[in-house]
Amino acid sequence: MEEMIKKLDETSHLILHRTPREDIRKGITVITSGEGMYVYDQDGKKYLDLNAGVTRPVAIGHGRKEIAQAVYDQICKLGYYTPCGFATIPPMKLADLLAEIVPGPINKFTFECDGSEAVESAMKLAKHYHHARGDKARFKVISRRGAYHGVNGMGLRALGTVNPMRHIMEPLAPGGVFAESPYCYRCAYGLTYPNCDMRCATDIGRIIEFENPEQVSIFIGEGVQQGFGAYAPPKEYWPIVRKICDQYGVLLIMDEVICGFGRTGKMFAFEHFNVEPDLITMAKCITSGYVPLGAVGCTDEVMKPIDSFVHLHTYGNHPVPCAAALKNIEILQKEKLVENSAEMGKYFLDGLRTLEHHPIVGEIRGLGLWTAIDFTVDKKSRLPFPADRLIRMVESAKAKGFIIKFMGCAIEFAPPLIICREEIDATIAMMDQVIASEGVPY
Ligand SMILES: Cc1ncc(COP(=O)(O)O)c(C=O)c1O
Repeated sequence: MEEMIKKLDETSHLILHRTPREDIRKGITVITSGEGMYVYDQDGKKYLDLNAGVTRPVAIGHGRKEIAQAVYDQICKLGYYTPCGFATIPPMKLADLLAEIVPGPINKFTFECDGSEAVESAMKLAKHYHHARGDKARFKVISRRGAYHGVNGMGLRALGTVNPMRHIMEPLAPGGVFAESPYCYRCAYGLTYPNCDMRCATDIGRIIEFENPEQVSIFIGEGVQQGFGAYAPPKEYWPIVRKICDQYGVLLIMDEVICGFGRTGKMFAFEHFNVEPDLITMAKCITSGYVPLGAVGCTDEVMKPIDSFVHLHTYGNHPVPCAAALKNIEILQKEKLVENSAEMGKYFLDGLRTLEHHPIVGEIRGLGLWTAIDFTVDKKSRLPFPADRLIRMVESAKAKGFIIKFMGCAIEFAPPLIICREEIDATIAMMDQVIASEGVPY
């Protein structure tokens, strides 16, 4: 007989992440299965998953047996061996494949358990590079207000404004320095693009000067930023940042943890912006979330002075998730899902633009299958939209069988890359209703 599954409540022994006690008291939906674009809960209710597992990894859709088979085959052959002093086949193959598909000089790769560890290791590799060249004072990390780069020690110091997480964990590793984000819709300087001289980018030079150029190790940012809801910067932004980093000998890490593997309509987001980073971090869509994996890529130039990367994770370069990643990337390529992300992303954006007439819709934006509606209570002044009203819209969509999420003042969509026109049409119609019932600015 099938096991009866109940909603999770306060009698459960499981600690959830970032879930208020009040929500647990009301009962938490248990997702029990998934197939393609859809997931099912404890009562058999079906949801269209518009955020690819909510944290956005599930690029190839749910329930793909090919990944299960690849994992099974690898475990039968070899389940584990150390990353130190020995190698195994799947991470070697995955590094070769990534060297082929990551454009530009990024050519060397190492594998970790998730995005936070990838960010951590990229920062350590950068510090290692400076240290090996005798540049031993460099330890400061510049990131952007509003950014998120994971939960580990070094990465935590690049946690822009994901509060209260950062405040609770303080004091953080010293050396975290913040620049403003390129969030033109609500520019931190009160300027209007293009009449702004790209202050958010050029200020990074001033910040480096103030912090002492000899102490700055890296600048880290996402090509398209999660923080305010799928924000792509103006085209000038990344080339200016690259130039400033070069001027001061600062390494540029582009965080592809969300963007990588097709999310923005290209394999990697940095391909949109005419920029070549020194290091990239990857996770999420690298395995479509089926098993945990993070990765760091860097140029030969970064590795050149490093004799041995003084680092050791038991689960580094793990053969099983690397086997899953190889199969996942094969599916992404065979089914042309990066191309689908570009095509369906445009279609999605056009659909969302039909919602611009609602008085609370501020800005519609996105790149590939990462789109967002930024809400406001005043279209003219662009005043922020209250979180409780965003939560109400998310709940209303869920009641209708659609899983969406909010980020900043925006509702965000990052569906599996297999989404088709009919599912997008249904989403736009649903959002039209949800926004209309949220009514007018008040
Ligand atoms: C840009 C970025 N970097 C790093 C991370 C951390 O990745 P993980 O949650 O896999 O540790 C995240 C997680 O959402 C992220 O969005």
